[in-house]
Amino acid sequence: MGELDGKVAIVTGAGRGIGEQVARKLADAGAHVVVSDRDGDEARAVVSALATEGVEHVGDLTANGTCDELVAKAVDTWGKLDIVVNNAGYAWDGPLHKVSDEQYQAMLDIHTVVPFRVLRAAAPHLRDPAKAERAEGREVFRKVVNVTSLAGVMGNAGQIAYASGKGAVVGLTRATAKEWGGFKINVNCVAFGVIDTRLTAAVGTVGEIQAGADATITLGVPEVVRQNFGLAIPLGRAATAEEAARGVYVLCSPASDYIHGQVLNVSGGLSLGMAG
Ligand SMILES: NC(=O)c1ccc[n+]([C@@H]2O[C@H](COP(=O)([O-])OP(=O)(O)OC[C@H]3O[C@@H](n4cnc5c(N)ncnc54)[C@H](O)[C@@H]3O)[C@@H](O)[C@H]2O)c1
Repeated sequence: MGELDGKVAIVTGAGRGIGEQVARKLADAGAHVVVSDRDGDEARAVVSALATEGVEHVGDLTANGTCDELVAKAVDTWGKLDIVVNNAGYAWDGPLHKVSDEQYQAMLDIHTVVPFRVLRAAAPHLRDPAKAERAEGREVFRKVVNVTSLAGVMGNAGQIAYASGKGAVVGLTRATAKEWGGFKINVNCVAFGVIDTRLTAAVGTVGEIQAGADATITLGVPEVVRQNFGLAIPLGRAATAEEAARGVYVLCSPASDYIHGQVLNVSGGLSLGMAG
């Protein structure tokens, strides 16, 4: 028997990387998971590997209507929704003076607008059951975890657009926590440092992805930056995606029932903050 038996979860960006590991952990604990990703083959492969019955939802979350369809998929399949993990994202980097309007908007869209739209669509399914439970004198905790980054919380040169989108999702998280606390919906953020996924691989070794509506960008970071990771991180190395997912899992589990409106850094002690 798992601690999440019977729960229904949505994990966005779960076709690979951190999101895949979150989906696996939730399923290992007994939850049914909607694996959301724009890459269908990857999403289906993750579903087939889950410990519980799962389902994929394939679509670009920044396209009109996709977030609503995603929530409908969960509710149509299992009749309810208990856990939402807003994880999908990518970095389209550049210094402020070189960032285009399209680039800036794309980072706001995937990191802030998409989590907002997913939560707006999920709102009745998270809030309405809580009203009935409250009338019965019962507390049932539901969970929202939004994924941010140290770049969003503390800033990072060369990531103006990404940091803006990841910073705004912290405001979204804290405001939602204040609105939904009365419904026992825990709303928190996880801020990752450096996690070993294709986003932090050596540039040029992991291909390209679509960015915004019609741009293509090369994934990865320069080797010189990668070499400094170990020096800057007090624990001495990047995290695996599985280690990163543990931080998200805690905030989806009963262990976090009294943790609310917080940003949990999962960074091996790395801090990009400025003094003062
Ligand atoms: N890897 C790191 O070091 C790191 C650090 C801080 C924050 N993060 C954040 O963690 C999250 C997961 O990143 P990851 O490292 O696992 O990356 P990843 O590329 O391995 O996985 C991200 C997934 O999101 C999906 N996705 C992206 N845009 C989408 C869209 N518009 N619609 C649907 N799916 C979409 C991708 O297809 C991909 O499968 C992201 O939000 C990222 O910004 C990562």
